[in-house]
Amino acid sequence: MKLFGIEFKNPIFLASGTYGYGYEFPQVVKEMGALFTKGITRFPKQGNEPPRIFETPAGLINRVGLENIGIDRFINEVLPKIRSLTKIFVNIAGSAIDDYCFLAERLDGLVDGIELNVSCPNVRNGLVFGRDPKLLYQLTQAVRKRTTLPIIVKLTPNFCDLIETARAAVNAGADGVSLINTLAAGFFYHGRFYTGGLSGPAIKHFALYCVHLVREAITPPIIGIGGITSGKDVVDFLNAGADAVAIGSINLKDPEAGIRILAEYNRLRGEL
Ligand SMILES: Cc1cc2nc3c(=O)[nH]c(=O)nc-3n(C[C@H](O)[C@H](O)[C@H](O)COP(=O)(O)O)c2cc1C
Repeated sequence: MKLFGIEFKNPIFLASGTYGYGYEFPQVVKEMGALFTKGITRFPKQGNEPPRIFETPAGLINRVGLENIGIDRFINEVLPKIRSLTKIFVNIAGSAIDDYCFLAERLDGLVDGIELNVSCPNVRNGLVFGRDPKLLYQLTQAVRKRTTLPIIVKLTPNFCDLIETARAAVNAGADGVSLINTLAAGFFYHGRFYTGGLSGPAIKHFALYCVHLVREAITPPIIGIGGITSGKDVVDFLNAGADAVAIGSINLKDPEAGIRILAEYNRLRGEL
């Protein structure tokens, strides 16, 4: 299947932040359509103090806080190990338009595409761009000028009009959108209140609804994300209007889930 002018071996991708840097399980990564790396920033980031993952009845809340080694080490040390495994999309994050532009320029020609993370609820100001259609338009337009790579904007449904933000991204030159990022959530741990992002099966049906909503509003490709754990879930997202999907939290439970989900999806496709 072809999206953004790129040939993918299948429509099942690994979602950002849920598969390490990608070289930990090369035998899985090479079977999947694409790897979306964890969020990469201009400078290394330590992330949040524990607790970082909190289990809920049907999913988890993470507050990892974008821990990563920064763009220089990513390009020099990680990229050579994953470049030939599958299509690589680098999830980039920043606190100013200039950060995203810098990162996009550094990656131009080195990877298959970039995903703008404007939707992280577990870092300070992580949602500033993702919630405001005007700011999102400015950001996407600025990045568009700095790279020839396909740009995917990762959208949030947290406290904003998703149709407006999806349209803003596309009007500014995004090649596609991915949705949803985690939902803002809170939990108590040893009597203290923490906030983070909820993911996993709990969010699947909300994510499906969001994909359906955005599909009616824009024409470019949509990557559907949220609570996918089976081949049947993949089919649901594709039927709701996604062109491809990405699997997230299930990888934390079973790093080989992608292989199983792919086999289930292929079997279901054969039965159609
Ligand atoms: C531990 C963890 C880390 C994540 N890190 C990122 C990230 O760095 N960038 C990003 O755009 N999304 C990140 N996400 C969001 C996922 O890519 C995905 O959008 C979300 O978890 C919903 O999919 P799921 O329900 O299948 O997990 C992270 C999710 C989890 C659980």
